[in-house]
Amino acid sequence: MKNTVSTLLKQKQSGDRITMLTAYDYTTAKIIDECGVNSILIGDSLGMVMLGYENTLPVTMEDMIHHTAAVARGAQNAFIVADMPFMSYQVSVQDAVINAGRLIKEGNANAVKLEGGAEVCEQIKAIVKASIPVVAHLGLTPQSVNAFGGFKVQGKSLENARRLIADAVKIQEAGACMVVLEGIPAKLADIITSKLTIPTIGIGAGKGCDGQVLVYQDMLGLTSGHIAKFVKQFANVGDVMRQGITDYINETKAGTFPAPEHTYAIDDEVIAQLIKEENE
Ligand code: KIV
Repeated sequence: MKNTVSTLLKQKQSGDRITMLTAYDYTTAKIIDECGVNSILIGDSLGMVMLGYENTLPVTMEDMIHHTAAVARGAQNAFIVADMPFMSYQVSVQDAVINAGRLIKEGNANAVKLEGGAEVCEQIKAIVKASIPVVAHLGLTPQSVNAFGGFKVQGKSLENARRLIADAVKIQEAGACMVVLEGIPAKLADIITSKLTIPTIGIGAGKGCDGQVLVYQDMLGLTSGHIAKFVKQFANVGDVMRQGITDYINETKAGTFPAPEHTYAIDDEVIAQLIKEENE
């Protein structure tokens, strides 16, 4: 069954936790979708995990459309959310609507996600008015990495926590259908979740949120280097890949791959004739 804005809302209302994972390509999206995840996010985290940038800031609309369309071709049932990249919605409301529209028309997304609170409410209202569902994103919003001075947990001070609660209410009033809460204390996420009627999706925000999201490379053990505290590694696919690739190299060098079962047959008579012709 296709997940939609209304099925996700019903999940919040009935206490059925929402599952969301990132994906950036057809093959991975197909596997994730077949497992029954409720929603797939084509995050601008693709800048880091797919394109090797230091942060999400260089990601373009073209990058997002390209990867969103691939994911949409692979996913039948998951609710597809595409991130609006840095500077695709901040400058003007008109930009925001045009770019959100491109992610729906060209990327085949079901919704768009953008970062920020009160400062992006006009954009949220205008995009929603164009019949495009909007997922908001509060807390440790990676596009603000330079303003924050690094990837730092948000909402720890009273003032900051109050602002996040107020922002959550404002984005809901502006028409957002869901909100991602990233890198905030679990108890603050609980307060926001109980105050809102729309689902909250946590990443580094504790188990009290209405759902969870993780970057799939992180939870499958494909990323190396620093791993955030909130990531649980559910499998070590990186080691499985390393082993498979090493076996391939060794067997190819040893001449044991390809084996007879990996090759195509031809009639002996045809070969005999070819050899005869070669020797003439
Ligand atoms: O870009 C992304 O993957 C995200 C998630 C971390 C929520 O925004």
